[in-house]
Amino acid sequence: MGSSIPHLMIFDTTLRDGEQSPGASMTREEKLRIASALERLRVDVIEAGFPIASPDDFAAVRAVAETVRESIVCALARAKGEDIDRAAEALRPAARGRIHTFIATSPIHMERKLGLQPDEVVEQAVWAVRHARQYTDDVEFSPEDAGRSEPDFLCRIVEAVIKAGARTINIPDTVGYNVPEQFGALIGRLIERVPNSDKAIFSVHCHNDLGLAVANSLAAVTQGARQVECTLNGLGERAGNAALEEIVMALRTRRDFYDLELAIDTTQIVPCSRLVSTITGFPVQPNKAIVGANAFAHESGIHQDGVLKSRETYEIMRAQDVGWDTNRLVLGKHSGRNAFRTRLSELGVVLESESEVNEAFQRFKILADRKHEIFDDDLLALVTDVEWSSANEHLQLVSLKVCSETGELPSAEVTLRIDGAERRVVATGAGPVDAVFKAIIKGCDATATLLLYSVNAITSGTDAQGDVTVRLADGAHIVNGQGADVDIIVASAKAYLNALNKLKAPMDRAHPQHGGI
Ligand code: KIV
Ligand code: ZN
Repeated sequence: MGSSIPHLMIFDTTLRDGEQSPGASMTREEKLRIASALERLRVDVIEAGFPIASPDDFAAVRAVAETVRESIVCALARAKGEDIDRAAEALRPAARGRIHTFIATSPIHMERKLGLQPDEVVEQAVWAVRHARQYTDDVEFSPEDAGRSEPDFLCRIVEAVIKAGARTINIPDTVGYNVPEQFGALIGRLIERVPNSDKAIFSVHCHNDLGLAVANSLAAVTQGARQVECTLNGLGERAGNAALEEIVMALRTRRDFYDLELAIDTTQIVPCSRLVSTITGFPVQPNKAIVGANAFAHESGIHQDGVLKSRETYEIMRAQDVGWDTNRLVLGKHSGRNAFRTRLSELGVVLESESEVNEAFQRFKILADRKHEIFDDDLLALVTDVEWSSANEHLQLVSLKVCSETGELPSAEVTLRIDGAERRVVATGAGPVDAVFKAIIKGCDATATLLLYSVNAITSGTDAQGDVTVRLADGAHIVNGQGADVDIIVASAKAYLNALNKLKAPMDRAHPQHGGI
């Protein structure tokens, strides 16, 4: 007999809306790794991408659709025939596929972005939903910028698309303008006033511009929303989307209040969060709820005493319930190739060719010689690095020598391999990292603006690998580069080269929400 407690669906859009965050773009392989991790987390829906954006986006959604068997795989499409056809084609191998189509409904978007009258928008939306229904019964519709749309108009379009066959109605607060009481009331009002609202699941999709995405989503849940769209670590455009880990743990920890069932395996939250952070190069702030390094550290003396006497005095959740103990010591210097490969596959990393495994294993051995304890995060950084070194043949680091001495100007000697030919360059800088970056720029005649440079320790201890993120811009093209090494100067050089290599790739993908329909 099934549970009588209503189910709340978790719709993860890390691979679509999360990826729209400048610099967070991911390769097909990286998306596949995250999709597999999301499936282990047991999210109900994985929004895998926007297939019309580019052939790479199409291939990534297709690969996720081929791999994921349990979660529903969703593809985004504007309310246009060619987008919907492309989404359906990408989803063809999916065990359970969903087409998510959208059109803007706020006065400002209809007038300035679409140049359409409200009647035309309704007509287009209905047409799009019917068109998508030719491919699948699972069609979701979003009135973009619903948070700033006229409630009466929203009722009208929602009723029309449900009649046309939409099974999920997602209400986005696209620009993060709403506040909880107002947004909750909007959802309650729609469910109450739309005559056929019982034929669809109401969903919400909140952006975090005012820091209210999670609060708005939860307010909507109390008013009848039964799907929440969110991303790991709150990744997403501008201030991001509602953070999955916060939504899930609020609903779990306060089940007494919300009384809803979730399918999520919460012990996978921290591993998933780390994977997303490693792949995108977006670090998680230490005081971030649930997944920040300090989230479960009870540092003040008074708190520690309380926790030692009775955990519940200060802790409302257990660290292990969200997966904090899963970053275990896995391998050491004497571990063999099989153990290495097995642990990687448990982490969702499948290295396809023998040469990739060999290369990664070589690097593992080198790391194990320098660092005695190898944790899961070290392994993830290592394979991300393998992908970096083999996938980008344009610029490679051959060797690096840095001189830094008190009272002297730091200098760097860098040997690069540029399209196969070696070149040695020397430069000085304000510090050793600055000297290395200047040498690289000189060596490859690159022009790019440095937007961000950040270093994080992957694990604890002074022998931890440094994980460096470098964000570069060339006009509107923004990329994140990453590098990991126990030597942070080497990690910095790798990250910088990784970003320069990414800048070489053409930026020919369409953004779903810019421009017309
Ligand atoms: O924020 C938004 O409105 C979106 C839609 C495409 C659902 O991401
Ligand atoms: Zn969005």
